[in-house]
Amino acid sequence: MKERLKGIESEALSAIASAGNRDAVETARIKYVGRKGLITEILKKMDEIPPEEKPEIGRLVNEAKSKITNALEERLKSLSAGVGPDSGHKIDITLPGSKRAIGRVHPITKTIDEICDIFISLGFRIVEGPEIETEYYNFEALNIPLEHPSRDAFDTFYLKSDSNQKPATRNQKFLLRSHTSPVQARFMEKNKPPFSIVIPGKVFRPDAADASHSFMFHQVEGLAVGGGIRFSDLKGALTNFARRMFGEDTKMRFRPSFFPFTEPSAEVDISCVICRNQKPVTSNQKPITSNQKKCSVCGGKGWLEIMGAGMVNPKVFKNVGYDPNKVAGFAFGMGVERIAMLKYGIDDIRLFFENDLRFLRQF
Ligand code: DAH
Repeated sequence: MKERLKGIESEALSAIASAGNRDAVETARIKYVGRKGLITEILKKMDEIPPEEKPEIGRLVNEAKSKITNALEERLKSLSAGVGPDSGHKIDITLPGSKRAIGRVHPITKTIDEICDIFISLGFRIVEGPEIETEYYNFEALNIPLEHPSRDAFDTFYLKSDSNQKPATRNQKFLLRSHTSPVQARFMEKNKPPFSIVIPGKVFRPDAADASHSFMFHQVEGLAVGGGIRFSDLKGALTNFARRMFGEDTKMRFRPSFFPFTEPSAEVDISCVICRNQKPVTSNQKPITSNQKKCSVCGGKGWLEIMGAGMVNPKVFKNVGYDPNKVAGFAFGMGVERIAMLKYGIDDIRLFFENDLRFLRQF
């Protein structure tokens, strides 16, 4: 019996010493001193031991049990050293904690949200469309003729025509959309007026990168169609937008222009956000104050172009199956990077795409 006891004791002590974690210590506890453990079994069999040996065996069993119990406790302590209030290690609560970086919204996303929020408050809703587009929607549906410069390979990213997917409906080339306007046609084909939508998204053009060009940038397109929509509705919506985006004292200018998908068309300018166009200049755009002469943002003109706009061309309505005699609408399209650069005073478009945290953290 003595031998057996010694054997159990040394086996238990080495099992505890090699226990690598709390679970292993607990397994050892159950095996040796648990309710059905080996030591407990011996204690239960004390009756069978001859009376003269009982005191001695009893003492040995109790010694073995307390050695094993102590060893279990010690092992648990050393496993949790450094953790918890009674580990014996002091915690220096004055040490700076390890910082967790919190992400934030990218300035472009933030600007898109701001633009869309303003139009949502005017009753518009957000619609999106594909970045890989067909030639039909990017150009033809919008009345952009074959000879238009934007259809040139230098102005549009065409995808290889040996692509497995052929455009499902119209057998034409795929390309990366060069503007968000094709979503106008896609939406009108599937929906009936009246509606007002804004279309945010990425667009692509094979431009060499410099301070004001990027091969990918963002636009927000707008389209409102219904009975009796007039140019004054367009002016009202865009003036409201510009004042909320750039400040209540922002002045607006609509210059006659040309886009194949609108008629009449306009380029929309706001008074310069830097020199604020203190004295409106004459139509030949010559600077008239020394203040404007110095302005590097508007080049002294006092005006900044922020978007193209116009009344939807009846040909576009025909292309999507609307009756141009029954509906009218206005459309506009703006570059998000340009809006953000003007609003936040950023002078290089590349800053948006370089992921430099020193820049991004400022928004
Ligand atoms: N799609 C034009 C561009 O990328 C911008 C534009 C001009 C959109 C006039 C419009 C519009 O909806 O009416 O240059």
